[in-house]
Amino acid sequence: TPLKNIRNFSIVAHIDHGKSTLADRLIQMTGGLDLREMKAQVLDSMDIERERGITIKAQTVRLKYKAEDGEDYILNLIDTPGHVDFAYEVSRSMAAVEGSLLVVDASQGVEAQTLANVYHAIDANHEIVPVLNKVDLPAADVERVKTQIEDVIGIDASEALEISAKTGLGMESVLEAIVKRLPAPKGELNAPLKALLVDSWYDTYLGVVVLVRIIDGVMKKGQKIRMMASGAVYELDRVAVTTPKLVEVKELTPGELGVFTASIKEVADTNVGDTITEDKKPTDKALPGFRPAQPVVFCGLFPVDASDFDELRAAMGKLRLNDASFSFEMETSAALGFGFRCGFLGLLHLEIIQERLSREFDLDLIATAPSVVYEVEMTNGETQYLHNPADLPDVMKIAEIREPWIKATILTPDEYLGAILKLCQDRRGIQTNLSYVGQRAMVEYELPLNEVVFDFYDRLKSISKGYASFDYQLAEHRAGDLVKLSILVNAEPVDALSMLVHRTVAESRGRVMCEKLKELIPPHLFVIPIQAAIGGKIIARETVRAMRKDVTAKCYGGDATRKRKLLEKQKAGKKRMRQFGSVEIPQEAFIKALKMG
Ligand code: GTP
Repeated sequence: TPLKNIRNFSIVAHIDHGKSTLADRLIQMTGGLDLREMKAQVLDSMDIERERGITIKAQTVRLKYKAEDGEDYILNLIDTPGHVDFAYEVSRSMAAVEGSLLVVDASQGVEAQTLANVYHAIDANHEIVPVLNKVDLPAADVERVKTQIEDVIGIDASEALEISAKTGLGMESVLEAIVKRLPAPKGELNAPLKALLVDSWYDTYLGVVVLVRIIDGVMKKGQKIRMMASGAVYELDRVAVTTPKLVEVKELTPGELGVFTASIKEVADTNVGDTITEDKKPTDKALPGFRPAQPVVFCGLFPVDASDFDELRAAMGKLRLNDASFSFEMETSAALGFGFRCGFLGLLHLEIIQERLSREFDLDLIATAPSVVYEVEMTNGETQYLHNPADLPDVMKIAEIREPWIKATILTPDEYLGAILKLCQDRRGIQTNLSYVGQRAMVEYELPLNEVVFDFYDRLKSISKGYASFDYQLAEHRAGDLVKLSILVNAEPVDALSMLVHRTVAESRGRVMCEKLKELIPPHLFVIPIQAAIGGKIIARETVRAMRKDVTAKCYGGDATRKRKLLEKQKAGKKRMRQFGSVEIPQEAFIKALKMG
């Protein structure tokens, strides 16, 4: 296809503003699928994605469109993940196309996520076409939202399209705008192959499938390619485009988006952002901006039932096949038994993986409190990266602990502003800006990530009745007065409950944890002290009283079957109990204690 007849674009939108509905319409109008093949939502192909209303993996679809000018165009729509955790993937997807449709719900207006994603598009030098969706709704206020787009995002909205993806109103104008207002891609057909690795996934039948954007040169079957960051060489055994069905093609030329397979074993062998070139005739310069995926949040995942361990390992292996940014290694905990320490791109990523493990693999799991990655500078000058509070080195050897900070943007209706500022303040936030976007307040805060990983997002949603939107960017690590809070049951530290916290909140966190555990640990024949400590210093204490002896009498007497049943029940219960010295703690207690964060 000649460059002038190609248009590549992405759709930028806040959750629920209609990105998928619009994409489906475009596919339907350009005949990519017949109606029977049209599922309700084509692009969001995973169940969990559909239910949570988020798009996890970038996918792409090639549309054929005969424009009003009589020419045939190839339109490549690349679907980008909507959530902050996947910001790097978003930026790579954006780098693969020349323009964006900025979809804003005309009854809602600009949201935090709209902003974050549109900035990616602006960074990628995109031509941006504002599209006001849902104009069929009585609450739609086109003029107000246009002004918002101009004031907040700073782009001209005078020629914004006014559409309803649901009813189909104005959809032709979208296709025409893509052709007329977005630039054609550039590239050199005769230069050495240079392609951007945009995404990859594991397909049961095809193995690893790699999505690429051809910058220069030609990619075809049988060719030997080289991944420039990893140095790996592969022979292409299939080159195709997605419509969204996979359709094999002879070759991919500059400006095109397509996929290939090359007997690659694991998704982890393909790095998003890498440059692909021809092995024999390589390009001299890789594309800028490559960066390996780095987990940001860690937590322990343990099977509730110890006999599920092997199954859990297998399930994680399967998930990792498709998601190289999720990492795991074995971990043992005195409290929780055998499990895994897992790394994630962010909190949402963690939730998704956890949910898939329990839903798709039917596994009952306990997650320990999420931890960020700390930089621990030792007195001998070494720096350690710590993501498990249980591994904190001897404090005497530590010079400084640095924690990651984020820059957060929150948009909220005015009436919730006070409560939100208080929440941020309580979480050691530093306010950097406060402005208004129409009727809504936009606050910017710097916050320690470790204060956000607990329950910040849930709290924000609950105090704003769901109306506040939140987005963040990772900033730098900063030194902080951080201490390890240990929880001791009967004078024994419980590893799964230890955490790194700021000194100012250590006492209150410790007290809450002790109170909670007191309720959760059943009485024994002796008194059990529950303590919170920083180093050797006890900062909070509760006591589980001893039970009266005659309670055990119940276990005796009665007929034989009843007795056997009771014993069996006790045995089943035992599995769920953890022994701490002479104290037995029900697994339930940990789950509950960990849930409150
Ligand atoms: P995520 O996939 O969650 O990012 O959301 P999305 O932006 O893809 O939104 P989606 O297309 O799933 O639409 C969200 C809701 O808005 C759905 O219930 C749609 O039916 C509805 N919707 C989309 N477009 C329109 C529209 O033009 N008018 C009206 N009234 N509703 C719409």
